[in-house]
Amino acid sequence: MVNSVQKAGASPAQWSSRFAFIMAAVGSAVGLGNIWKFPYITGENGGGAFVLVYLGCIAIIGIPIMMAEVMLGRRGGKSPIGTMQVLSRAEGRSRGWVGIGILATLASFLILSFYSVIAGWTMPYIVSAASGELSNISAETSGALFEGLLASPGQLLLWHSVFMGLTVLVSAGGVRHGLERAVTKLMPALFVLLLILVGYATTTGHFGEAVSFLFRPDFSSLTAEAVLVALGHAFFTLSLASGAMMAYGAYLNKKVSIVRTSFTVAILDTCVAMLAGLAIFPVVFAHGLAAGEGPGLIFVTLPVAFGQMPGGSFFALLFFVLLLFAAWSSSISMLESLVSHLHERGISRVKAAIGGGLVAWLIGITTLLSLNVWSDFAPLSMFERFEGKTLFDLYDYFTANIMMPLCAFLTAVFAGWVMKPEHSAAELGQRWHGVWYAVMRYFTPIAVLIVFYTNLG
Ligand code: TRP
Repeated sequence: MVNSVQKAGASPAQWSSRFAFIMAAVGSAVGLGNIWKFPYITGENGGGAFVLVYLGCIAIIGIPIMMAEVMLGRRGGKSPIGTMQVLSRAEGRSRGWVGIGILATLASFLILSFYSVIAGWTMPYIVSAASGELSNISAETSGALFEGLLASPGQLLLWHSVFMGLTVLVSAGGVRHGLERAVTKLMPALFVLLLILVGYATTTGHFGEAVSFLFRPDFSSLTAEAVLVALGHAFFTLSLASGAMMAYGAYLNKKVSIVRTSFTVAILDTCVAMLAGLAIFPVVFAHGLAAGEGPGLIFVTLPVAFGQMPGGSFFALLFFVLLLFAAWSSSISMLESLVSHLHERGISRVKAAIGGGLVAWLIGITTLLSLNVWSDFAPLSMFERFEGKTLFDLYDYFTANIMMPLCAFLTAVFAGWVMKPEHSAAELGQRWHGVWYAVMRYFTPIAVLIVFYTNLG
């Protein structure tokens, strides 16, 4: 068994360097989660206290779990499902642990279906920016523009289809070719552009207000549900508990330090989210927009900021193009768990990517309709918790707040209790293994359970 583990890990299909892996992992991690979702859920959950809990979740749960997933992926050397088959056999344990791989693959697949719809929103904004439509746009017009987009199933379908097509295209060819070269340039560009936006935000006169909104915690406004949302988002934004990091870890060279790499990826991801918050909230306050506006937050506020800054149309164009690329490098990683698994079972990558993309596209159509035609359709309204939640809300809720925490819990149990410590130490290195191991055994599973439990009450 040890032999096949080693052989699989030494397969030729590897990232070309540690830097390439970091960029691919950052490409997966940095996406709509940082720039679209983080600001709007922060707005909905009252700011500072939520941000602090989120940062805590990243530091003490997200980073150790990321190490566990990359470690499992590299050791198994296969798709998440294949990896869990290899590892449960190698550890002489029940095949039931393959459930982690299945749950992860399902979660990322479901996420892809709605992620594609949201990512599609960037494209009409690219068109508007290029046509100059955004220059000097007022907050009302910007709001109306966004409402108009959501109200049009035809437009949403067009852009959802284009985005899913782009995802399938790269996925079919194998993620290491095109992806590696693209992310190493685009991620740094996005970072610089965010810095420029933050620079502009300091001129709005409301920067201080935004800083205190984001970083001055008011725990009286923090609910148990907000803590669960923060935990779920920590997983979402780091692409955890969904196979992506496991799948990418399988292509990672044995010599690279998993501990250092995981820290780097998590820190970069967090910086992008913080920059997005600092770019967006000053504009929100300056224009009297609602922080709790919801999923439309950045699409309504940023055009107003761009519309007023010098060279705004150009920056708007650049921003939405980069956001599109950031979402693209994320969506590719969502499809990877499924495609690499089907590929292991003898289906070509092209067929697997097209088939997977097609099903995700179909599910995505139900998300897109729940933004307009089906906006009153709340199938689980008989449960108080799900009252008024549309299909889109439900997909988001189930994946981020249920499937991902569950998957992370099981991953922690497997890495901390099922796998022999010599095996995890062989991947993670002796130096940090002790601390990581203690966290994985006791802290992570218990913390995830507590958050879950308090939410059931
Ligand atoms: N982390 C990405 C973001 O923040 C989303 C993402 C990529 C993802 N791959 C994933 C989320 C896998 C869940 C599962 O936008």
